[in-house]
Amino acid sequence: PPYTIGVICGSISASSINRRLARALIKLAPDDLQCSFIEIDQLDLYDHDRDGDYPPEALELKRQIREADGILIVTPEYNRSVPGALKNAIDWASRPYGENALSRKPVGIIGTSPGAIGTAVGQQHLKTIMSFCNAPLMNEIEAYVQYQEGLVDDDDNITVESTKEFLATYMRALDDFVRRVLTVVPKPDG
Ligand code: FNR
Repeated sequence: PPYTIGVICGSISASSINRRLARALIKLAPDDLQCSFIEIDQLDLYDHDRDGDYPPEALELKRQIREADGILIVTPEYNRSVPGALKNAIDWASRPYGENALSRKPVGIIGTSPGAIGTAVGQQHLKTIMSFCNAPLMNEIEAYVQYQEGLVDDDDNITVESTKEFLATYMRALDDFVRRVLTVVPKPDG
């Protein structure tokens, strides 16, 4: 059967290079992976005072995460860590205590930056966060993409052939990983 991937972009910028990368990755995904964006820009700042009365945007975020077979996070690095908007979404998704939507959800992490280390430090922080959220992480391939002008064209194609092949391999690895995790532990709703 086709598997579904919820794609979360860690940047809410309209001109985000990570969103460009995310759209290109969706295009490179194997045919049996159905990828769609999960948006995080409508969320208030997380506040545990609201755990008993979750806002609809946060409930919708959790519903979309639960429904997806796997999650792909495509994120910039801000100040050598994860963007606040992304951390905020993760905090909403992980609560109330005992109702963590990310638990056992297979996750791939990738990102791009104009800087030479291509989000490596931010991704490392994100791995720590996602591990605590009990999300199995796809570690088979790491991808730190240095963004250069024109790397993704206006039709969401990667213009550098070697990078394109590498990113297609990344998406195949994510596909295999999600399949393996769900074979061992199916989602509660089947
Ligand atoms: C950055 N940038 C950045 N780049 C990097 O490689 N490491 C870093 O720690 C940071 N820190 C950082 C903090 C803040 C607040 C901003 C706004 C930017 C630069 C960043 O990679 C660049 O702006 C990207 O374009 C951000 O990705 P999106 O939002 O375009 O996807």
